[in-house]
Amino acid sequence: MRTAAIIPAAGRGERLGPGIPKALRVLGGAPLLVHAIRAVDQARSVDLVVVAAPPDDVTAVERLLADYEWGSDVHVVPGGQDRHASVARALATLPADVDVVLVHDAARPLAPPELVDAVAMTIRHGADACVPVVPLADTVKVVAGDKVVRTLDRSELRAVQTPQGFRRAALATAHAWAAGLPVDELSVITDDAGLVECHGVSVVAIPGAEEAFKVTRPLDLLVAEALLTRRRA
Ligand code: CTP
Ligand code: MG
Repeated sequence: MRTAAIIPAAGRGERLGPGIPKALRVLGGAPLLVHAIRAVDQARSVDLVVVAAPPDDVTAVERLLADYEWGSDVHVVPGGQDRHASVARALATLPADVDVVLVHDAARPLAPPELVDAVAMTIRHGADACVPVVPLADTVKVVAGDKVVRTLDRSELRAVQTPQGFRRAALATAHAWAAGLPVDELSVITDDAGLVECHGVSVVAIPGAEEAFKVTRPLDLLVAEALLTRRRA
């Protein structure tokens, strides 16, 4: 039984603003991608890491990652047009003996290795799929144009993080199904757990970690810098 971590890292990072692809932007002296790989590499459960890199930067990412020492094997594949395609490409390269797959965004550089292990253990103990979740701070409303349609019950809402964990067969089946979906139907499913849910697989929710937040906008990068400084102090 082996566990692989897929790191989708092929996005442009448009919401972060102009510049190089988000996964390659620097946080505390190292690219976000290096931090994200460290999080899964330091987890005891992970044997193998596959990075889906920006397609034009595969060689540069391979060179970058060769400068670091990793406990696990780390491979790089070209990512795709959207996040689903990037994950699917990495999934297609996994060796046959991998039976547990974690998917972890390069954009979540500070996820604790303990969280990675907790997700992996949930799958090893029999769940088909697992996501870390955190309560919401803001009230959430459904809005159409400038009209509020309704207010959702915050007590039953959770924000979903990565790593997300899967029995390999469940994730592979869901991705094979997704490959045939029209782009507009696929684009509303924004994570891997969403794909397996559509496929009737039940997903276990475990407590997430605040530090596993996603770097999406410039403010998130400032928060990540502050957290890293505190961690290193
Ligand atoms: N991702 C990917 N391949 C894509 C698009 C996204 O591997 N074609 C990855 C990103 O690199 C990121 C993760 O999916 O690690 C989460 O996506 P997101 O935060 O949306 O990152 P970006 O798509 O890069 O950002 P933006 O949407 O602001 O452009
Ligand atoms: Mg995106």
